[in-house]
Amino acid sequence: MIVEHLSLVDFRNYAAVDLALLPGPNVFVGKNGQGKTNLVEAIAFFATLGSHRVSSDAPMVRDGAEHAIVRARLAHGERRVQLEAQVNRQGSNRARVNGAPVRTAELPRYAQVVLFAPEDLQIVRGDPSARRRFADQLLVQRAPRMAGVLADYDRVLKQRTALLKSARARGLKGEALSTLDVWDDKLVTLGTEIIRARIALAADLTPPVAAAYRAIAGEDHRPELEWALSFSRDSDPDSDEDDAGTSMGSRTDAADPTVPATADVIAQFRAALAARRPAELDRGVTLVGPHRDDLVLRVRGLPVKGYASHGESWSVALSLRLASAELLRADSQLGDPIVILDDVFAELDSGRRGRLAELTSGFEQVIVTAAVGADVPGALRAHTLRVEAGEILEPEDPEPLVSPVVGAAAAYEGGGDD
Ligand SMILES: Nc1ncnc2c1ncn2[C@@H]1O[C@H](COP(=O)(O)OP(=O)(O)O)[C@@H](O)[C@H]1O
Ligand SMILES: [Mg+2]
Repeated sequence: MIVEHLSLVDFRNYAAVDLALLPGPNVFVGKNGQGKTNLVEAIAFFATLGSHRVSSDAPMVRDGAEHAIVRARLAHGERRVQLEAQVNRQGSNRARVNGAPVRTAELPRYAQVVLFAPEDLQIVRGDPSARRRFADQLLVQRAPRMAGVLADYDRVLKQRTALLKSARARGLKGEALSTLDVWDDKLVTLGTEIIRARIALAADLTPPVAAAYRAIAGEDHRPELEWALSFSRDSDPDSDEDDAGTSMGSRTDAADPTVPATADVIAQFRAALAARRPAELDRGVTLVGPHRDDLVLRVRGLPVKGYASHGESWSVALSLRLASAELLRADSQLGDPIVILDDVFAELDSGRRGRLAELTSGFEQVIVTAAVGADVPGALRAHTLRVEAGEILEPEDPEPLVSPVVGAAAAYEGGGDD
């Protein structure tokens, strides 16, 4: 799929902008703080219903405005779909598809986006929450119904935790005890679905991650992905650190041998809840469940976090995104995901730069941002626009727009980039 047309009203530093985008590479060049990331954040919103930079929506609404409007016309082959999101400073957002109101959660059914950003290094180096977010966003992109399962799990987790906290204050007796059992059932049912979906995702990602890593790093460091589950981890249950735990037992689902059987996950989940209940009541925290799991990443048999070099860490982060794009491309009816490379080339050495450009240049549409046009490898230099203080401008010299040659980006270097 591609974005053919994008329009923003009161989104971040854009008062109003209307923009046509082309198939293939589209490059946005501008100094820092001009609105490059804001632009791609708006496109990615349709796929993730959030921002990759902030957890709340308010920062996406232009200072002084009540809401932002993002409209995109997407082309899936010959079909066109018009998406619209109203991002509210407060309260829930609104969405339309082809003019008709829909639940916001419907939008990712139409829009698939893989966004590469400097923040991606946090997937491999940051807390387990960054890896869970990476995995869950991809789960939702592949199976939009998972958005509901994840949201329900979060809700149950909050309610159960609130009950544990009040039980800690007042003691847990009679009715409260049976209420906790009810929450446990919901936690286990929803949690098991998430755990199994995440394990299946890791299995599906492994071959494309291995291929992408070889292509990006130019060497085979045997990248591995494995979920360390909260209830098969026997180290300090309080820590949310990436202590590589043991994986599930060896019995698997008959239909999918890479995933442990539902009954086994449920049994382990329940046993762990029973074992931790005194600790949970003592501390008022839910200690068991997918909200405490970690996707352990390894290269050369060692955890990436804490062991891998800067270059290896980047190779893993890029491989995770490239593999995501490959998976979405392979299972989607909608064609390729929109690939966005936000300011990543400045982070990479020239070898990785060139290889990343080659590996992404074959997607239907690639949107690239850079502070310095020269950082964008030749394979992705084409249709180039300037971003300046919340406005999108044609290059002074219109000629480079015509042909996808080095000239387009090179024209800018003389034009005052830092
Ligand atoms: N809600 C907002 N209202 C107005 N301006 C904003 C808002 N959010 C961010 N900005 C401005 O947008 C700019 C950052 O844009 P960004 O797209 O991140 O820059 P870059 O071009 O470096 O990627 C900053 O100047 C910031 O002040
Ligand atoms: Mg930026």
